[in-house]
Amino acid sequence: MTTEGTTDGGGAAGAEAAGAGDIAVDLELDRPHSARMYDYYLGGTTNFPADREAVAQVMAAFPTVLVTARVNRAFMHRSTRSLARQGLRQFLDIGTGIPTSPNLHEVAQSVTPGARVVYTDNDPIVLAHAQALLRSHATGRTTYLEADVTDPESILTAPQLHDTLDLDRPVALSLNALLHFVPDDRGAHAIVERLKAALPSGSTLTISHATPDFDPEGVARLAAAYASSGTPGQARTREEFARFFDGWELAEPGIVPTHRWRPDGPADTEGVTDAEAACWAAVARKP
Ligand SMILES: C[S@@+](CC[C@H](N)C(=O)[O-])C[C@H]1O[C@@H](n2cnc3c(N)ncnc32)[C@H](O)[C@@H]1O
Repeated sequence: MTTEGTTDGGGAAGAEAAGAGDIAVDLELDRPHSARMYDYYLGGTTNFPADREAVAQVMAAFPTVLVTARVNRAFMHRSTRSLARQGLRQFLDIGTGIPTSPNLHEVAQSVTPGARVVYTDNDPIVLAHAQALLRSHATGRTTYLEADVTDPESILTAPQLHDTLDLDRPVALSLNALLHFVPDDRGAHAIVERLKAALPSGSTLTISHATPDFDPEGVARLAAAYASSGTPGQARTREEFARFFDGWELAEPGIVPTHRWRPDGPADTEGVTDAEAACWAAVARKP
């Protein structure tokens, strides 16, 4: 299923089109979902007993997962703000997650009110809460598309994408804390290459991704806890992560743990170890 909703400037009509009440979705509340588990880590309330049971297993396996989630989210904020300040006005965010303010469009539109954002996720509960995401600034535009990154054509050919973004102009593509849910046997690198190929020169690629490099045993336990809750995944080494950016120019400071990517100040890094961040992060630009 591909479903969408759009708002120009927070208009009521667009919000109504995306209203959860209009869309019959099976939220599968009896089984854990990665988006709702992440919502719990960030202190949200859109999670249910099955999600919290899975979170308890994850926290037993990897006790600092709340730090991992918090510094990942902060990386999204800093990288988005940085790209907006560099003049990026169009954003395609895949694996968006349940709304947690500030969301990507709020960060981008705080710099560039006219910024346009397409959000994509494959979890129906994210769609059900998309109304909160769709409150665009009056001069910007925000669209939500329910689609699976493992089918990049369904994203690239979606009319809603082309209604919102002009793919002849630079696009900031972000795949934050997403690709570790796409194992190699689902073709993660080929998927990213397909998305990169669709974007023009000057576009950017932002990725954060779980890695075993700092705490191999802890991250193996983390992956096993996710697998046992029905979400198989694959943490990747720095070398495997770097391959996602092949042919594009890495922005300073290159590939670093999430909390070390252009910290705003000591508060972003103090007291956080690389093993707790447990994710690589980078931003690159298409030549
Ligand atoms: C950990 S959350 C990350 C949220 C946000 N990008 C961030 O970094 O704050 C991962 C999100 O990826 C979504 N996801 C997982 N597999 C996906 C897939 N195959 N296609 C699209 N979204 C997916 C989940 O539903 C979830 O919302």
